[in-house]
Amino acid sequence: MITKIIGTGSSQGRRRVSNQDLEQVVETSDEWIHSRTGISSRYVTEGEGIKAMAAEAAEKACIQAGISPKEVELILVATSTPECCFPSTACQVQGEIGAEGAAAFDISAACSGFIFALHTANSFLVSGTYKTALVIGADELSKLVDWNDRRTCVLFGDGAGAVVVRAEDDGKFFSAVGSDGSRGEILTCVSRSGGNFITKKQPKMGFIAMDGQEVFKFAVKKVPSCIEEMLKEHQEKPEDIRYYLLHQANERIIAAVAKRLGEPAEKFPMNISAYGNTSAASIPILLDELNREGKLNRGDKIVMAGFGGGLTWGSALLEW
Ligand code: ACO
Repeated sequence: MITKIIGTGSSQGRRRVSNQDLEQVVETSDEWIHSRTGISSRYVTEGEGIKAMAAEAAEKACIQAGISPKEVELILVATSTPECCFPSTACQVQGEIGAEGAAAFDISAACSGFIFALHTANSFLVSGTYKTALVIGADELSKLVDWNDRRTCVLFGDGAGAVVVRAEDDGKFFSAVGSDGSRGEILTCVSRSGGNFITKKQPKMGFIAMDGQEVFKFAVKKVPSCIEEMLKEHQEKPEDIRYYLLHQANERIIAAVAKRLGEPAEKFPMNISAYGNTSAASIPILLDELNREGKLNRGDKIVMAGFGGGLTWGSALLEW
């Protein structure tokens, strides 16, 4: 059996925040943010939260796939920003959309999460365990950034993207993921730490902290090499790929990856200007946009690749 995407959907936080809006919050400028990252605005939640965004994206993907949520047998949500430790965001989505028969759980691999979730769903589909799955990338990083820290708060946005995948008889699907826990300190967010029985201290939430230049170096090295290795392993040629959909963290990272792969910039669509970095949601939001704009044709080969905290990375190739 081969994994095929049969529907896509997305949603984002209700409030649009422009770079000019952020100039009122921290000492920054539209010029600095745009020239360093390619970001002009982002969307943030206004209380609707991750459950609502993920469920909306999932419902849209089911409608486009022409299936009832009741046909979904597996729901995976890649997220670093669940509302609670349990129930998982995947279980919350299951309840919201009425996918009664599905098994549901979350996957935590930061900005690479969507690729890890797709990789996991593929294993279930190829093994014959399930036939139809919902794979969702959703993050609400606005609740984890320090809004006084200009080095990080300008980078992120909130959103969700979903795909319905189905085990089919023909097509192509390959994926590969990797991790390097020894370098995790360059991109961290400590959650609920410091609670202690002896001192009776209450736990505190941490903020996102990042060594931007180290993350940049990691991304421009790891993303091209993991794509090249995957293509080589499956005897695929870079020039036959229609689109490379990369995690939307920084326009300059995407341009550098295109250059290292020797592929034209037009094959690397971007929407970071409007959304910022939506972490696990960025790849499926971009895929949904291309799909709804009619830019994907049957048989197109699409590569997706992500990188993020952990450190983690991953890539997937599929035939549309
Ligand atoms: N506005 C104005 N000035 C700023 C801002 C801001 N928002 N942020 C930082 N600066 C200042 C710094 O204080 C510093 O000033 P100083 O020289 O007086 O100390 C100066 O700008 C340069 O700071 P750097 O951090 O060195 O800036 P850099 O050119 O590296 O750009 C950036 C930072 C955009 C984060 C870059 O390192 C980068 O793109 N890194 C990749 C990491 C990434 O994209 N992370 C996203 C999340 S991780 C993920 O998705 C996997």
